Amino acid sequence: MKQMMFAYPGNESLAESIRLQLNAAAGALEIRKFPDGESYVRIVTEVNNTHVFVVCSLYDPDPRFLSLAFLCRTMKDLGAQRVTLIAPYLPYLRQDKRFKDGEAVSNRYFADLVSSFTDGLITVDPHLHRIASLNEIYLTDCYTLQSSALIADYIRRNISKAFIIGPDSESLQWTSDVAGKAGAPFIVLEKTRKGDKEVSIEFPETDFRDHTPVILDDIISTGTTMIETIRKLRQMSPVKPVCIGIHALFTGGSYDALQLAGAADIVTSNTILHPSNKIDISSLIVKSIQQTEHEALH
Ligand code: R5P
Repeated sequence: MKQMMFAYPGNESLAESIRLQLNAAAGALEIRKFPDGESYVRIVTEVNNTHVFVVCSLYDPDPRFLSLAFLCRTMKDLGAQRVTLIAPYLPYLRQDKRFKDGEAVSNRYFADLVSSFTDGLITVDPHLHRIASLNEIYLTDCYTLQSSALIADYIRRNISKAFIIGPDSESLQWTSDVAGKAGAPFIVLEKTRKGDKEVSIEFPETDFRDHTPVILDDIISTGTTMIETIRKLRQMSPVKPVCIGIHALFTGGSYDALQLAGAADIVTSNTILHPSNKIDISSLIVKSIQQTEHEALH
């Protein structure tokens, strides 16, 4: 089936990189606001009988979500055979239970909405905590990709004698995987979150002599987790750490704050476009699409 790649505005460079590697056709669209704030969506290229891919990283999702839904619905109306959303960063995963009476369990509601206008969803390292797989909440076909091999490769090539530090127990899944692939030692710390911008971290006595500490987390948002880990680490080692985050959310001034806190370098993947992007995940997405196409044909 003919493949066509669309970039939701702001996602052009990643979409073009994926498109070129797949040798897919380029789709054109128009999205703008009417004067009253409603969304105008138009698909310029013919999508009848094609498998369309829409690249839209969903950091800060609310302002773009409705026009994304309209876009995908229009593609189906115009005869697209399949609509696959490539959302390298998938939001609304942390509110996965009702912590306080009356709260929205937004991970499920968001999953229902996305599933209503897509046939497939490709994402990278989603923040899964109390659910094991996206298939538990999404009805669309989910392709969950892991960036651990790319991160390990970056560490092997760029950081000498890395010692990988996962800031909390949730990070064990990717910390141990990356450490194994990079052939580096690792530890996982104990974090207690006291508020959006307040965490405490228990750091066991560790010997970092001759190593470069590498703090590895899936998301850097307010930077609180990384900054508190650096603060504890600096009491033990004079060597400044490298901070690696998969998803560069960097809310507020957290990127600057993290540099000021003493990070030797800040490295992220391009699941969200940011100046710190040094790990390119496009090849993961391309391989997943090629493999799915191959399986469909055989
Ligand atoms: C939480 O469990 C995640 O793995 C990250 O540690 C967290 O989202 C980082 O957020 P922040 O930068 O606001 O501390």
